[in-house]
Amino acid sequence: MGGHVPASPRCAPVTAADPAAGREDAYRAPVGTHDVLPPESGRWAELVSQFARRAARFGYGLVLTPAFEHVEVFQRVGEGTDVVRKEMYEFEDKGGRRLALRPEGTAPVVRAYIQHRPTPPWKVWYLAPHFRHEKAQRGRYRQHHQLGAEVLGVDDPAVDVEVIDLAQGFLTSLGLSRFSLALNSLGDSVCRPGYLDALRDYLRAHADQLCADSQARLETNPLRVLDCKQPQCVAVIERAPQLLEHLCEPCEAHFEAVQAGLKTLGVPFEIDPRLVRGLDYYTRTTFEFASEALESAQNALGGGGRYDRLAEEMGGPPAPGIGFGIGIERVLIACDSEGVLPTPLPRLDAFVVDALGGGPGGDPEVVALLHELREAGLSADRAYGGRSLKAQTRAADRAGARYLVIVGREEMGRGAVAVRDMESGEQVEVGRSRVVSWLCEHRERLGT
Ligand code: HAM
Repeated sequence: MGGHVPASPRCAPVTAADPAAGREDAYRAPVGTHDVLPPESGRWAELVSQFARRAARFGYGLVLTPAFEHVEVFQRVGEGTDVVRKEMYEFEDKGGRRLALRPEGTAPVVRAYIQHRPTPPWKVWYLAPHFRHEKAQRGRYRQHHQLGAEVLGVDDPAVDVEVIDLAQGFLTSLGLSRFSLALNSLGDSVCRPGYLDALRDYLRAHADQLCADSQARLETNPLRVLDCKQPQCVAVIERAPQLLEHLCEPCEAHFEAVQAGLKTLGVPFEIDPRLVRGLDYYTRTTFEFASEALESAQNALGGGGRYDRLAEEMGGPPAPGIGFGIGIERVLIACDSEGVLPTPLPRLDAFVVDALGGGPGGDPEVVALLHELREAGLSADRAYGGRSLKAQTRAADRAGARYLVIVGREEMGRGAVAVRDMESGEQVEVGRSRVVSWLCEHRERLGT
């Protein structure tokens, strides 16, 4: 540990590093960030609740960590990666602390584990914004959101299988089918150094055929060269020595057990010996879900792997770990192109119409009835500002209301209200004291 985190984009001032920044409209969301509004946000709510329910079924609890941490937390992510070296939003706070907005979610969870020492196995999930100063394009943003899970304190390959199953089943449950799972092992501190020597020797011998980036990485982070998509590098990489052929016996046995477990569950996967992932902390199992429905440069829906040394490297107790992060924005783009998880239509059980002409604020009868409906667990709404009956009915339609509950003078004189089924157009009179239970019964029967 220790050492200096190289300078990366700073939060303020916004002008110097990015000449375009000064020309941006201050009252628009910054480049690479997005507002998510209803009804689109309904898909987010659905996605998150599906993940939360699935994670709970697997025995994972929600963990919340701060959006910023001391920069040191991200050093082991690490120094040879773009995520930390080039893309981290680093800043000094008013107290002179060096902080960074979360570029990735694993290191903060490991930091929390070290700080609180929960009893292992510690199984947690999260939904968190992540910040990376990337070149913004479709599927690549400066603020994106990940649904993730981490398990600390167990090195059993059954956990690898479990987290992969958690992620894979989630993507499938959304209706996605055009994606694949790539699997690899990066070995450990026993077998990887020997492999890195062999890889470096090979790459040095072919350095003149590599792109400038790969030439630079060759010495600092040779594994990342395997990730290069430049045509001239791909040709060299194809013939490079493979880590899977250098695994030590325990790593080999672990990898075999993970594959056997996935086969037992019927989780399809392909071994990709060149899957190295973009972060430094990985050991043994690594995996990535790639979608055919996304452009190839941003086709990863999510990925993860083991990081058995990270807790120790961050000054904590030995605690093997494994997890994954799934990019919500990319999953939604994939859902759009596969035509699944449509934006939910607005739906409301009841819309209370003020036909008493109570004016702004509404008649107290309307206000009270709306309150009762909501307290009874129904979704209910109204119009505001003393609108005409026609305008109120239009608003009910827009809100996707199943029933109109019309509070009119004549009906009220009989101690009743009118209830109109917005689908069939049928209208009945229901006693004022019974209308809430009437709607509850009908809602259950109709399943709205
Ligand atoms: P990652 O591969 O860097 O892994 O990010 C996980 C996922 O987040 C990606 O597969 C992608 O879907 C999404 N993502 C990443 N960067 C962006 C971006 N700029 N714009 C939009 N989406 C993006 C991690 O962050 C690890 N912490 C995952 C992990 C958890 N490994 C072990 N535990």
